Amino acid sequence: MLCTLSEILRDANERHYAVGAFNCLSLENVMGALEAAEDLRSPIILQVAEVQFPEAPLELMAPLFLRAAKLSSVPVCVHLDHGQSIETCMKAIRLGFTSVMFDGAALPFDENVDNTRLVTRMAKAAGVDVEAELGRVGDSGVDTADVFTDVEESVRFIEATGVDALAIAIGNLHGHYVHTPQLNIQRLIEIHEANRLPLVLHGGSGTSVEDFKACIHNGICKINVATAIQRGIMKAIRERMQTEPEVGYIPLKQVMIDASRDVVAEHIRLFESNSRV
Ligand code: 13P
Repeated sequence: MLCTLSEILRDANERHYAVGAFNCLSLENVMGALEAAEDLRSPIILQVAEVQFPEAPLELMAPLFLRAAKLSSVPVCVHLDHGQSIETCMKAIRLGFTSVMFDGAALPFDENVDNTRLVTRMAKAAGVDVEAELGRVGDSGVDTADVFTDVEESVRFIEATGVDALAIAIGNLHGHYVHTPQLNIQRLIEIHEANRLPLVLHGGSGTSVEDFKACIHNGICKINVATAIQRGIMKAIRERMQTEPEVGYIPLKQVMIDASRDVVAEHIRLFESNSRV
């Protein structure tokens, strides 16, 4: 069933688990992810980021995500990840997304507030939820975060914008880690104590089990995972091609569905969102 972000995160926030937000770029990816969520009776968030539009156009992913969500027996939120402009957020809202992220983290604080507030106002009018980001989540290949989220700024930001969830920077990075990061859990605890709204961890791939557990027990309710799914699918394809070089397209599609399902299932268990619905 199709849900908004706040509907899905309410229970997670109360009962201290996280809902996985999986970047899905293909039919196989979506089918596998939903199979895992249904098998494990877990809510799930399907998302696509603006930088992924060349390979997974918003106009094509929207009907796929929405139809899959409506047909599913578990709660599914359809979310725009890292919207880079107000226009992109508006487009996703018009296409039926139930949640959008406006990523103004690279902007000066006041500009991030102004733009996020505008997106929130428009989204709320359409019954859509909003995630924003404060502090900088680093990029692949760099082994330190640029700037951690400031506690006092997070309070001002949330009050001024009215967002439903906030992505924070506590040493997490997108993409492949050079080595396993050590997240600043103390900073997470301080942000969570100052704000009771659901917090989001980006860059889920490569995080240690201990850090995942510390995150979900201290206020992280949504965890984004992209790279781990792509790597899992590629590994499965390579293995199948090695044992069966002439394997056909249709069996390979099944390999991709199964790999997507397995990686998503592994994360659902780690995030403790299984057996919740
Ligand atoms: P990873 O690719 O590191 O899992 O990050 C995903 C993400 O944060 C998408 O917004």
